[in-house]
Amino acid sequence: MTYKSNMLADLEFNNDHFPSIIENDGSIETLTQAQSWISQNQASLKKGLACTGALLFRGFPVSDAVSYDAFFSAFGYNNFTYKESLSNAVRINYTDLVFSANEAPKEVEIYLHNEMAQTPVFPNIISLFCEKAADIGGATILCRSDIVYQKIAAAEPQLTEKLATLGVKYTSRIPAADNPDSAQGRGWQSTLSVENRDQAEQKLLSLGYRWQWHADGSLLAQTKALPAIKPIDNDRQVFFNQIIAAYEGWEGVKADPSVGLCFGDDSPIPKSFLDSICALAAETAYDLMWQDGDVAIVDNHLSMHGRRPYGGDRVRRVLVTLGI
Ligand SMILES: [Fe+2]
Repeated sequence: MTYKSNMLADLEFNNDHFPSIIENDGSIETLTQAQSWISQNQASLKKGLACTGALLFRGFPVSDAVSYDAFFSAFGYNNFTYKESLSNAVRINYTDLVFSANEAPKEVEIYLHNEMAQTPVFPNIISLFCEKAADIGGATILCRSDIVYQKIAAAEPQLTEKLATLGVKYTSRIPAADNPDSAQGRGWQSTLSVENRDQAEQKLLSLGYRWQWHADGSLLAQTKALPAIKPIDNDRQVFFNQIIAAYEGWEGVKADPSVGLCFGDDSPIPKSFLDSICALAAETAYDLMWQDGDVAIVDNHLSMHGRRPYGGDRVRRVLVTLGI
């Protein structure tokens, strides 16, 4: 297949091109051909990704975790493993690179977020592969973080400036053991890659967390102030955080935001500001309706993502890999 993607020809920040969809015209029949096509066009593909925030590859010969691993590897990103991450979701590894997306039950919505932005350790790239789309619902939500920033800055200039200056602290309860029924169900031993409490405390200390153990064996942990808005190049600022996911999805935070969120100086984030952020992101979001075999490559700084609930008989299977 010759490289002739029109959507990448005009490399401007254009919402109509989000995500950029690159369809196989039929000339790429094997995985090896796909890999060499990606390698040959790697520079333009990455340039396109840096402009639009997400690329969707449709109709390529990717059918399972192993072929997806090979397809993604052709982009040449460095590996970012789930094991070494501080992700709060329970996941299953299929290959060294590929693991399940959040194992939370299908009726649970995963709200918009930048991957692992609630921790000091996050990937630059998140890729998703749809092995099997759901019958009903199950879209991956994508949302441009730079556009959300612009809207928030216009609607709430003072609070946005405060957020940019002070950053945000997250407080979360990390369970004693893995609980796959929760979107934040990863136990503290797995989350922190440790075996005992001493090691956990050492790790938390090194990452700048404050913490408290609870009688049920769970751990209440608060991050240091993490950036919530940051520049990604000379022109663009992005809303890069997990504020929406924490406010909408973490237990008790919507009723009382101070349970999970505060500004970097410990002052409360007004509920009205959080509601405004969620509404502005919702109007910016795009539902990616999966087809079997689709692969998305998402710039983790430029795009937030989430997952709609789903139903039907078909067992939805979306796999993930991360890169830096
Ligand atoms: Fe995610």
